[in-house]
Amino acid sequence: MMKVGVIGIGSMGTTHLDVYGKRDDVQILAVSDLIADKRDGVGKTKGNIEGQAKGGLDFASFRKYAEGMELIADPEVELVDICLPTPLHHTYAVAALRAGKHVLVEKPFCRTAAEADDLVAEAAKAKGMLMCALCMRFWPAWEWLKRTIDQGTYGKVLAASFRRLASFPGRSFYLDGNQSGGAALDLHIHDADFVQYCFGLPKAVFSRGYCKDSSATDHVLTQYLYDDIPIVSAEGGWSMRPPFGFWMRYVVNFERATAVFDIGAKPALRVMVDGKVEEPALAEGMGYQYEIAYFLDCIRSGRRPERNTPADAANAVRLIEAEVESIRTGQIVRL
Ligand SMILES: NC(=O)c1ccc[n+]([C@@H]2O[C@H](COP(=O)([O-])OP(=O)(O)OC[C@H]3O[C@@H](n4cnc5c(N)ncnc54)[C@H](O)[C@@H]3O)[C@@H](O)[C@H]2O)c1
Repeated sequence: MMKVGVIGIGSMGTTHLDVYGKRDDVQILAVSDLIADKRDGVGKTKGNIEGQAKGGLDFASFRKYAEGMELIADPEVELVDICLPTPLHHTYAVAALRAGKHVLVEKPFCRTAAEADDLVAEAAKAKGMLMCALCMRFWPAWEWLKRTIDQGTYGKVLAASFRRLASFPGRSFYLDGNQSGGAALDLHIHDADFVQYCFGLPKAVFSRGYCKDSSATDHVLTQYLYDDIPIVSAEGGWSMRPPFGFWMRYVVNFERATAVFDIGAKPALRVMVDGKVEEPALAEGMGYQYEIAYFLDCIRSGRRPERNTPADAANAVRLIEAEVESIRTGQIVRL
C-alpha cells in the first residue's frame, strides 16, 4: 500500500484524490491546504473538464496539515503529490525530494526554466522518483496519436495542429500572470509538450500572441519549425468570452489518413482513411488515472519514468519561454 499525501486541495488536488480514492493499492494518508474547508473536504473547486475534480471522498481518516511543508515532514508519507499554485512547485518539490519522498508535481513543472533545470538536478541525486503530471501524454486519444505516429501506421505526418481554448479561470493564482505565466505556460504547455513528445524539440519556434486577462501571454499561436515535417502548430488561450466553454482539439494529416480529435464530439476521435471514417477503440477516462498508474508502477518497479522524464518537463517550460520571447521580439527563436 503506497502512502500518499496530497498538497493543495484545489481543482487538481481534488482530481488526483478522485483517482487515488478508486485505487486499492494506495492509502491517502494525508492532505494539506492552507484553507480549512479544503483540507476538510468541504470546500469545492471545479475543474474545466466535465468529470474532473468530482470530490466527494470522505476525508475523516486523512491526516490534515495546513502548511504543505508539515505534510512533507510526515515520516510515513511515501509519495508527495504537489498540486500547489505554479510558483510553489520548485520549492515544495525540492523539499519533498530532500526528505526522501517520491514526488508527483503538477504541470507546469516550474514557473521558470531556470527553476526547472535546478529541479532536474535535484531529482538526479534524490533517492525518490520525480514525475511531472503532464497528463496529455497519458490521455487515451493522445496516447493513440503518439503510438500511431511512432508506428507509422498511416505514413509520415504532413501537418499537425493542436488547439486548446477556454475562458479565463478568473480565480486563485491564475488572476496574476506573474504567478501563472498566463495561458501560455498554464494551458498551452499541454500542447507544446505534446509536440515535443511526438516530434522532439523543434529547431525553432515562431509565435504570435497577446496579453489580456492575466497580464501575461493569454493567447498564443505557435509554429514549431522542423526540417522533416512541413506544418506543426498549436494555439492556446484562455481569453474567450464566456460562455465559450472548453476546446481541446487536434487535426493530424498523415500521408494516408487524417485524424481529428475534439473533446466535445461523440466519438471524440475519428480517422478518415480510404474514403471511410474509422473510430479507434480507446481506453475509458482521462489522462489523470493513467499518469498516476504509470508513476505508481515506476515507483514499485524501481524504474525511473522514461515516458515522461524531469528533463522533458523542463524542456516544455523552456519551449514556452522561447514562444513568449518570439512574441516579444517578433522573431523566430531558435532552441
Ligand atoms: N493537469 C491539468 O490539466 C491541470 C489543470 C488545472 C491546473 N493544473 C495545475 O495544477 C496546479 C494547481 O492548480 P489548481 O487549479 O488546483 O489551483 P487551486 O488554486 O484550485 O488550488 C491550489 C490550492 O493550494 C493551496 N495552497 C496554497 N499554498 C499552500 C501551502 N503553502 N500549503 C498548502 N496548501 C496551499 C490553496 O489554498 C489552494 O486550495 C497549478 O500548477 C496548475 O497549473 C493542472
